[in-house]
Amino acid sequence: MIDESVKVVEHVEIGAGYRYLVLAAPQMAARLQPGQFVHVRVPALETSALRRPFSVFDAEDGKVTVLYKTVGRGTAALNAVKAGDTLNVMGPLGHGFPLKCAGVPLLVGGGYGVAPLHFLAKWMVKSCASLTSGKDSASPLSVKLFVGGRTAADLLALDRFKALGVEVFTATNDGSAGVKGLVTDPLDDELVKLREKGETFELFACGPDPMLKAVAMRATGTGSKGWISMDRHMICGVGACYACIQKTVRGNSRCCVEGPVFAAEDLVW
Ligand SMILES: Cc1cc2nc3c(=O)[nH]c(=O)nc-3n(C[C@H](O)[C@H](O)[C@H](O)COP(=O)(O)OP(=O)(O)OC[C@H]3O[C@@H](n4cnc5c(N)ncnc54)[C@H](O)[C@@H]3O)c2cc1C
Ligand code: FES
Repeated sequence: MIDESVKVVEHVEIGAGYRYLVLAAPQMAARLQPGQFVHVRVPALETSALRRPFSVFDAEDGKVTVLYKTVGRGTAALNAVKAGDTLNVMGPLGHGFPLKCAGVPLLVGGGYGVAPLHFLAKWMVKSCASLTSGKDSASPLSVKLFVGGRTAADLLALDRFKALGVEVFTATNDGSAGVKGLVTDPLDDELVKLREKGETFELFACGPDPMLKAVAMRATGTGSKGWISMDRHMICGVGACYACIQKTVRGNSRCCVEGPVFAAEDLVW
């Protein structure tokens, strides 16, 4: 784990209170795995203030990108950070997605939950085809993303997923983009098609709890693998304070160390 001060390369608003924050952090970028997170000290807050955890959206070419939503004091203060400023960042933290692939990868996200799924999709497109088929790593892999939100403005980074060759399915509560309804509507349609074709699949999800529970139930209910990234309030981020407890079949687990990614069958809701 690295605890270092790094330069901000870029900080851009992408609408509806969401921003990309790009950091020059070569050591961290080289070690991060999809699903892990970084713990950021927000400079404008008092020095004793807690860090804020963010999933990694991308880690490449010595840069680490997070995609965050402004929701409160810490993220509002983070808005003031400019390119050239220095930020203290701790990471890589937590237990990410398994770096293997069985069956068609179905990624399911809501809001900023697409962040770790983007890093995962990128890894899959680069590496998974060769791991699963033994073919050249340039072989196309059919990664599918199901993303939901209240409105079209909550569907984030779709251009970045499409640029990776990911097939994107969308749903919004108000029908302003994609299917009108829940993200599980297009997901269920796809599950039916895969079952009819006799194809196996594996689910990877990050987003609000009700969505995660619905995805986990679909994994366990079909006897498929599901990997669920849980979002719990954190204090230390390194396993010391027990603020981030998630109930599992093995008892209480710390989201920051044993998670944030858990196997669907291990979670107790
Ligand atoms: C492992 C992990 C990965 C995360 N990845 C991302 C990410 O990629 N992008 C992103 O925008 N956010 C992410 N979050 C959530 C992010 O850490 C919080 O939104 C942030 O800490 C809020 O800080 P704040 O001071 O702005 O809000 P606060 O003033 O602390 O809280 C404002 C509101 O946000 C809610 N809130 C605070 N923390 C969380 C949380 N962890 N989950 C849900 N609601 C919360 C509070 O209940 C309150 O309603 C992640 C959290 C975890 C645990
Ligand atoms: S945040 Fe302290 S144990 Fe997880």
